[in-house]
Amino acid sequence: METKIRATITGTGSYLPAKILTNAELEKMVDTNDEWITTRTGVKERRLAAAEEAASDLGAEAARRALKEAKVKPEEIDCLIVATITGDMPFPATACFIQNLIGAKNAAAFDISAACTGFIYALSIGKAYIESKTYKKVLIVAVDLLSRITDWTDRGTCVLFGDGAGAVVLEPTTGEQGIHSIYIGADGALTHLLHQPGGGSRNPATAKTVADRMHYIKMSGNEIFKLAVTAMLDSARKALDQAKLKCEDITLLIPHQANIRIIEATAKRLKLPVEKIFVNIQKYGNMSGATTAIGLDEAYHEGRIKKGDYVELVAFGAGLTWGAAVIKWGK
Ligand code: ACO
Repeated sequence: METKIRATITGTGSYLPAKILTNAELEKMVDTNDEWITTRTGVKERRLAAAEEAASDLGAEAARRALKEAKVKPEEIDCLIVATITGDMPFPATACFIQNLIGAKNAAAFDISAACTGFIYALSIGKAYIESKTYKKVLIVAVDLLSRITDWTDRGTCVLFGDGAGAVVLEPTTGEQGIHSIYIGADGALTHLLHQPGGGSRNPATAKTVADRMHYIKMSGNEIFKLAVTAMLDSARKALDQAKLKCEDITLLIPHQANIRIIEATAKRLKLPVEKIFVNIQKYGNMSGATTAIGLDEAYHEGRIKKGDYVELVAFGAGLTWGAAVIKWGK
């Protein structure tokens, strides 16, 4: 019988830009206040990339840290997958910029677009490459600079978002550790709930699209809020079922950090105690696909996941997209 190959995470890394934007500073920009933002969203501050930094700069630094931890040289990487909706340019792929910055000269390189679920979507591709023995070393980077597409005059969205990057190295193992299951889904009938209408082939950039502020995030917050809890719950349960595990087997749930109320509602319905839920929304806000990648890196380095523990990632985002991954931690 052929031995089962799994994809296991051998290194994690993240990079957060230095500049912090606090709720107090936002109070001076739009009609809002710290009390509203904290109670309605859970965000206290977020990071903003410097003017000269693009997605590839943040992503490359997260990638270097993950490679160092995995003790893998950049030229050993076979494939580099970047999850982003705020790439350096519409083309070429941000993965190609990162490949060049880190020297991963033997890697195939491409981007995927699944917004806040991007890291989990990218993990599912890396997992398939490793399990099918197509590649041995896959580098996954999730990076977003949501500050670059945020309308800083719209109080309904600008309080939520931030910038950051996370990365993991995937390698094969014949052991029990590794990615046990990934469930991903989407509903393209709901694209209008969260989108950036300007700048693509639907509405190419013109003076009018810019004047109409079409290059910024447009979001129907209330509608998304209601769908988010159901999508997160359903995804978390389906990935657990695939892995033949129960909620109580999980040591840590790392949910997408869009709103503390969404996280708490999901955790309550899964009957998970607070100590099993990873939360860092207060420091960074929502960084789209980078959020769960950064969460995984922080949770590991804070000692909240140890070898042999089951950790579950769960996310939802524009598309709408959703997904969850169950990993038996192997480091
Ligand atoms: N400060 C003060 N008041 C505000 C602010 C603000 N920043 N924003 C909105 N309000 C006001 C509204 O104008 C409204 O006032 P009104 O009652 O006088 O009309 C009131 O607060 C309530 O507004 P709601 O929109 O109903 O507030 P809600 O409790 O729904 O919170 C929020 C809004 C935070 C956006 C919430 O709906 C949410 O988190 N939605 C989900 C967002 C999400 O998860 N997005 C997906 C991921 S992002 C991605 O994929 C890139």
